[in-house]
Amino acid sequence: MPSLRRALVLLCCLASFAGNADDYSRGEVLDAATMQRARVDYLLHCGGCHLADGTGAPPNVPTLMGLEEIISSPIGRDYVARVPGASQVPISDQALADVFNWILVTTTDADFEPLTAEEVGASRLRVLADPVGYRQRFWPEAAD
Ligand code: HEC
Repeated sequence: MPSLRRALVLLCCLASFAGNADDYSRGEVLDAATMQRARVDYLLHCGGCHLADGTGAPPNVPTLMGLEEIISSPIGRDYVARVPGASQVPISDQALADVFNWILVTTTDADFEPLTAEEVGASRLRVLADPVGYRQRFWPEAAD
């Protein structure tokens, strides 16, 4: 039952992220209200596959840990908003950028260049038909 599954995922996610309140102090990237909205969007639209803590189920569903490395290059910044699960989610470009930045804020202490609504919006129009092949082509060392 999708609704039950969604409710369970939501509960898991809320429990798992409950300890991350301190990260809200990184308001230089996202303010507290945006953090809350992005978290809910993540739970509803991403957590079902990538799991509550973002670790996914490799090799089928990749972990979102290490996203800061992928978005450190222009091609990587373009790639993340082109994978089908992200690009086709029914939320605005700004909300999707906020979700990515929320993932980054909550999973790494490293500095990163936040994704913008403009670049996410331009990338998500070009949905990748073969994201796994694309990733292997550009990051063969990262292929699971
Ligand atoms: C239906 C399951 C599903 C949902 C929902 C989903 N994803 Fe994914 N995601 C995948 C799979 C599977 C892949 C591997 C590429 C592929 O086959 O599309 C992936 C790949 C990715 C990648 C590339 C990671 C890498 O290391 O190459 C990112 C980033 C990502 N997803 C982010 C998101 C975000 C953000 C959301 C929510 C807005 C989301 N995904 C929703 C299943 C999902």
